[in-house]
Amino acid sequence: MAEPRAEAPRLVSVPVVRDPRGALAVIDCAFTDFNIQRVYFLYDVDSNSARGSHAHRDLRQLIVAASGSFRVSLDDGSGNYSEFEMRDPQTALVVPPGHWRRIYDFSHGSVCLVLASEQYNEADYIRDYDEFLSWKRS
Ligand code: TYD
Repeated sequence: MAEPRAEAPRLVSVPVVRDPRGALAVIDCAFTDFNIQRVYFLYDVDSNSARGSHAHRDLRQLIVAASGSFRVSLDDGSGNYSEFEMRDPQTALVVPPGHWRRIYDFSHGSVCLVLASEQYNEADYIRDYDEFLSWKRS
């Protein structure tokens, strides 16, 4: 049986200000449960390509489909696996540390917006799945 999760990924609703001109979605540090240190976005991704395929030791992230759609699979290495279809800019995915992620099935023109709790640090990555499982067991 799968072990209980320390902290599970979850979907949260992004505050939106809508008026006749369109919609304005706001994400700030009061909304995230971390201080945003970095913002990056994936675009121009081929529908046959996958991004991710790694885990982070400490990094927390919020992922939003700013445009179009893609899928995110998350695996905590303890038998808990979840999959999310991201297609609504008003819905953000909270990705706690310690999850092997894969982002794939990008629609044409999609933009995957990522807000991160830390600056880029290669030492925080685990890029080998077996190493990820060993790290989770340790
Ligand atoms: P990576 O995080 O592996 O991207 P993905 O998981 O989407 O495939 O990063 C790809 C490359 O970009 C890698 O050489 C590191 C670099 N990179 C930065 O320099 N800064 C960043 O903030 C990020 C996210 C990546």
